[in-house]
Amino acid sequence: MVAGNWKMHRTASEGAALARECVALAAADPLAKRCEVVICPPFTGLAAVGEALAALKGSGVHLGAQNMHAEVQGAFTGEVSGPMLSAVGCEFVIVGHSERRHVMGETDAMVAAKLRAALRDGLTPIVCIGETLAEREQDKTAEVLVRQLSAAYSGLDAATAAATVVAYEPVWAIGTGKVASPEQARDAHRVARATLDQVVGPSTGSAACILYGGSVNAGNAATLFAEDDIDGALVGGASLEAASFWKIIAAASALNRP
Ligand code: PGA
Repeated sequence: MVAGNWKMHRTASEGAALARECVALAAADPLAKRCEVVICPPFTGLAAVGEALAALKGSGVHLGAQNMHAEVQGAFTGEVSGPMLSAVGCEFVIVGHSERRHVMGETDAMVAAKLRAALRDGLTPIVCIGETLAEREQDKTAEVLVRQLSAAYSGLDAATAAATVVAYEPVWAIGTGKVASPEQARDAHRVARATLDQVVGPSTGSAACILYGGSVNAGNAATLFAEDDIDGALVGGASLEAASFWKIIAAASALNRP
């Protein structure tokens, strides 16, 4: 899977144009069907991008949101709920992105509530976890990943957990150009798999789809994807241009993994 997180970029019409460009590249690539592609515009672009994708039938490109509120509706000014996202064609939603955790103050408990709400509302959550630079330097990476995953997944059954996607995104690699090495990413993904086995049940970790995110680009994607434990990428900056996003998708598609 390759998911593009546009963050706070692109207006609705710019987003629809970018989505059309991505779909045109998908249509021209015979291997593209091997990779599940998701694009996550800002809330204001969801409807227009959703319409653009729906008009291009069989594109295989899915729509996702970058955040949601855990309640279905209510007095939550400025928030958007899961059913509202589904109504504009979203199938996926990112929860617990590090910018939400560290800039907007989302706690592990809030992320856990959003994960459950996404599942309740029929959306596939892409659950982000990852350590800060200070935590890595203090050798606390595994501890942070275990804490974040335990808080998010405890109490879920194996089938429910398997319907989610995890994105390991070290905070120090996001938007910095400092991509994690394939070994660093692989080791973190292994910790995540072992934690899911412990928290949810045996074999949950090996079945889980775990993406790497943080400065993935057309030049480094293939070496990351060569690691068996890396099932794809959550891409920020490089998803804002169709050509660079497409090169990452092509790198994933070139691997003939079951
Ligand atoms: P980046 O962002 O690819 O620009 O580093 C990744 C993300 O925040 O999901």
